[in-house]
Amino acid sequence: MDKIKSLTGMPDHYNDGDKNNLSSKIFEVEQKIKEIFISYKLHEIRTPALEDANLFNRSVGNTSDIVNKEIYMFNDRNDKIMALRPEGTASVIRSIIEKKLDNTSHKLWYMGPMWRYERPQKGRYRQFNQAGVEILGIKEGLPEFEMISLVCSIISSFNLKHCSIKINHLGTKENKQAFCDALVQYLQPFKDSLDDKDIERISKNPLRVLDSKSEKTQALLRNAPSIKDFIDKTAIGLLLSIQNEFSDLCDIEIDYSLVRGLDYYSGFVFEAVSSELGAQDSFLGGGRYDYLCKKLGGKDLPSIGMALGIERFADLVSIDTSFRKVVSFLVVTSNLEPKAYKIAHHLRTLNKEIILDIHLSEGSLKSKLRRANKDNSDYVIIIGEDELQNNTAVIKYLKDEFKEQQSVTLEELYSFYKTI
Ligand code: HAM
Repeated sequence: MDKIKSLTGMPDHYNDGDKNNLSSKIFEVEQKIKEIFISYKLHEIRTPALEDANLFNRSVGNTSDIVNKEIYMFNDRNDKIMALRPEGTASVIRSIIEKKLDNTSHKLWYMGPMWRYERPQKGRYRQFNQAGVEILGIKEGLPEFEMISLVCSIISSFNLKHCSIKINHLGTKENKQAFCDALVQYLQPFKDSLDDKDIERISKNPLRVLDSKSEKTQALLRNAPSIKDFIDKTAIGLLLSIQNEFSDLCDIEIDYSLVRGLDYYSGFVFEAVSSELGAQDSFLGGGRYDYLCKKLGGKDLPSIGMALGIERFADLVSIDTSFRKVVSFLVVTSNLEPKAYKIAHHLRTLNKEIILDIHLSEGSLKSKLRRANKDNSDYVIIIGEDELQNNTAVIKYLKDEFKEQQSVTLEELYSFYKTI
């Protein structure tokens, strides 16, 4: 019989404890990012993976690559057209409108899988995970600073090098339209020499031409009109002051050619990129989307958000878990001894910083010690028949070759454990 395999571009992730393995790093990254979000007083929101497909047509945009080519869409048993969410923002806004919470401000975060039918390659998957933040109901100003502060915090808490944050401003709806018109007018005479993808972009979504991978198009764009000449002084002032305030924390670059691939953006946009990632160099992206809520049938709710691609980010970071000590707890008795287990339980209540690994499988002391060494344990606690009888335990110091193993009373064991 043929083996059933995972689908292309949809990897499993298994944390085998090896901190150099991408999957293990993904779990560590998620844990730490959650803590950062909580420290910014953001509240968690969890929306379903499946949504009415119209949600994404109306938000991400039916001219975007995501909706045009990448969305996983199918009819359910009742012939309703559904889509696996390709991103989180549209669902968050849908949920806020549905709960009638679109009359006030919110600071939200989410984490979970997204789906895009892309050609898989390094850093590009068909199922990937995002950690996202949406600040709703507050107009341009402080939220922009909060968002960049958050991006800088994420970058610095993982000690990331060789990365920068690109920022741009797409202006008001009118500015964006005037710029698009000027761009189309400029490109029109060269249209026949462009590739099909760019010709389609000119007619459907001219801003996306700036993202073209074609060298010819990029050469033409060097003399094209710039958004800089279409946005007002306040917008440029915002870019400059964000650059001024944060450039001591992270490399911030104003990039007037930065446009984002989703249609809902207006105003301030940004992306974090790393030279270490190769072709898929952007590990985080976001921006302001002041008109999305109204477009989806809700109130006027000026908002800004961002999402981090967990896989791409995890690929960049080195995880240092050495600050958490690991203790292997070995019970070597011929019968099941619940009392030994209770000692382990009590230890865990005494010091939550320690990773206490109780070896659950049967085996000789020798094989258990071999595993404790392999797992890079700092200490081993051994409970055998004698120890249970006498209310004692043996402590072995695996990282200190000069220190002899010690037999201690349970009280001494508890005091030792508290101070590890
Ligand atoms: P996005 O730029 O489409 O923005 O995606 C954000 C991040 O998700 C990217 O920077 C990248 O790291 C990761 N990503 C995207 N596609 C893939 C893929 N196929 N494989 C692996 N990683 C991928 C959004 O999704 C917006 N919702 C962000 C946002 C929130 N804007 C406002 N609020």
